[in-house]
Amino acid sequence: MSRYYLTTAIDYVNSRPHLGTAYEKVTADVIARYKRLAGFDVHFLMGNDEHSQNVFKKASEEGFHNNPVAYCDRMEEEFTSVWKALHCSYDDFIRTTQPRHKAAVQKLAQAAYDAGDIYEGVYEGWYCVSCEAFKPEKDLVDGKCPVHPTLTPEWIREKNFFFRLSKYRDRLIKHFEAQPSFLEPEIRRNEILRLLDAGLEDISMSRAGQSWGVPLPFDPDSVVYVWFDALINYATAVGYGTDDARFAQWWPADLHVIGKDITRFHTVFWPAMLWSAGVEPPRQVFGHGWLHYGGQRMSKSLGTSVDPMDAAAPKFAPDAGPDPIRLYLTKEITYGTDGDFTWERFEERYNVDLANNFGNLVSRVVSMADKYRSGRIAPAGDGGRLAGVAAASFERYRNAMDGFALHDGVAAAYQLVDAANVFIADNAPWKLAKDPGNAARLDAVLFEAAEAVRVAAVLLRPVMPTSCDEILRRIGAPVAGAALQLDDARWQSAGERTTIQGPPMWPRSISVPSGDMALTGHAPEVVIRPAKEKSVEEIPAGPGPALAPAGPADDARIGIEDFLKVELRVAKVREATAMPKSKKLIRLLVDVGEAEPRTILAGIAEGYQPEQLVGRTIVIVANLKPRPMMGTESNGMVLAASADGQPPILVAADDTLPPGTRVG
Ligand code: MSP
Repeated sequence: MSRYYLTTAIDYVNSRPHLGTAYEKVTADVIARYKRLAGFDVHFLMGNDEHSQNVFKKASEEGFHNNPVAYCDRMEEEFTSVWKALHCSYDDFIRTTQPRHKAAVQKLAQAAYDAGDIYEGVYEGWYCVSCEAFKPEKDLVDGKCPVHPTLTPEWIREKNFFFRLSKYRDRLIKHFEAQPSFLEPEIRRNEILRLLDAGLEDISMSRAGQSWGVPLPFDPDSVVYVWFDALINYATAVGYGTDDARFAQWWPADLHVIGKDITRFHTVFWPAMLWSAGVEPPRQVFGHGWLHYGGQRMSKSLGTSVDPMDAAAPKFAPDAGPDPIRLYLTKEITYGTDGDFTWERFEERYNVDLANNFGNLVSRVVSMADKYRSGRIAPAGDGGRLAGVAAASFERYRNAMDGFALHDGVAAAYQLVDAANVFIADNAPWKLAKDPGNAARLDAVLFEAAEAVRVAAVLLRPVMPTSCDEILRRIGAPVAGAALQLDDARWQSAGERTTIQGPPMWPRSISVPSGDMALTGHAPEVVIRPAKEKSVEEIPAGPGPALAPAGPADDARIGIEDFLKVELRVAKVREATAMPKSKKLIRLLVDVGEAEPRTILAGIAEGYQPEQLVGRTIVIVANLKPRPMMGTESNGMVLAASADGQPPILVAADDTLPPGTRVG
């Protein structure tokens, strides 16, 4: 089995993780899980970077001046509890204060020294403690570090040891030419090529007069500079300095997943350090973009920092676990570019992608299998059109995931979910079920839909492991969990399945929408009149008389909580028939994304012939109590408007909205 060794950046522990640092860990975890699915023997490393001046300072502030390691112990618990809550499946968690790391740092520093690449000198210049980086005068803006404009860099003059980075410039340029995929995405590579073109200076690799760090083996009064120290963690974790055989097995690392701000350290300093010590550089580095909050940089002091624990148990779906935020971070952001998070958008995507789309599909398929076949479904034929969609989704998914286009991998899986929803609407199993002559067709439709759900769940498992395992269980998949292989995402036309009913995977959320989710399409002359008790002909008549002027008086206004009691949903008209003995009513069969379509009697006959209505995408009130009318039970009300005395006109929704989408 091929090995795959991947790592994330290790985090400074002077503050708790936020959703930006979590973004990196979650997406790296998706890659790790995908590689396991693809058959690799994966070693996934995460960890903490502890030898930073900021960490030392914070430990002192917290009362750990004499024992900063005890502070770091506490932070390790904080960090790992967040990563566990997000279901990050790391195999090892490294800390740079561990003895194994000290051994590795000293070994590499000594090797570089022995190679003649380290020499003593004096550093005089600016240092930004927040970046933990030496700052050339030309990189400052108005005397401040551009990344930390509120802090004044420190002027330092001290004995330092320098690493001959300049010596490796030509080799680095050749390496970038020979290995075009060494640094992805391309935009990052171009940044580094420009930097190399401009020339490289030697870098300081030690700090004097400090105790917090790994002592230099050739000058124990100095400690190793935090970045020189931190990069070595990737080698430490697989045995460098402690277990040569293990190191030979796992090195070079296949992938370092890091943020775009630290590509220079990973693709210029790090390969040069390794070459100097006679070790191969990592095979690949991926520099992801930054996650912002409402368009702003995530920062505690600005109040724009999101706690990943809140995102793993959002108020609008407290029991959903981390899968919704894992899906958001993977699907909504083109991997490699910057992305944005807001709670409103998160909730919106939850409702669209999970509650209405994938979750609803699962409920429909399982409940129809239960209702029509007592939960036992069997293949009939080789699969129809969904088998073709699944094959295309599989290829697109694999290409995308192999190229770290994680967002496109998820989109490929959703292509199949969408097609399955349309397939069910088109094949109307509830109709087939009415005629025993259609039994074989119904068998085929149910199995095909269930198989599409199974394939989609296998593809989405690296992103949503817990939910997809549950879906695979409900759908009666022959293989689930860690035993799954990528080939299990190929269409299967064999084997009886037993489905298992369960509560909705992702119940729809109803919380107060903010400005960017505001209602649209309220023509002032439109009044929606609820059904009245007395006259059947008027119920549910839909449109009422126009009001002029529009806009109720203040005391008649309702709060958003009143409005939210009304559940408006997108519906597709599947059938429409005139009601005998009624001038106003038309009997509609509408698809609201539920297991079966609903019957609604709509008072719109003065505006429409029944045949004009089939296929339209309309809006209904979905949570009206059922009402018996003229011997038929009406389950909801359509929205329509009539200008003064004119025939009613239906309120239309965009055709691309899937049935069941909440309006509001
Ligand atoms: N300790 C160094 C990394 C050493 S790796 C040998 C460091 N630590 S950090 O805590 O500042 O950042 C850890 C990782 O989180 C980095 O890859 C960084 O780019 C990433 N992110 C920090 N804020 C982020 C966002 N807002 N969005 C996405 N990633 C972010 O740098």
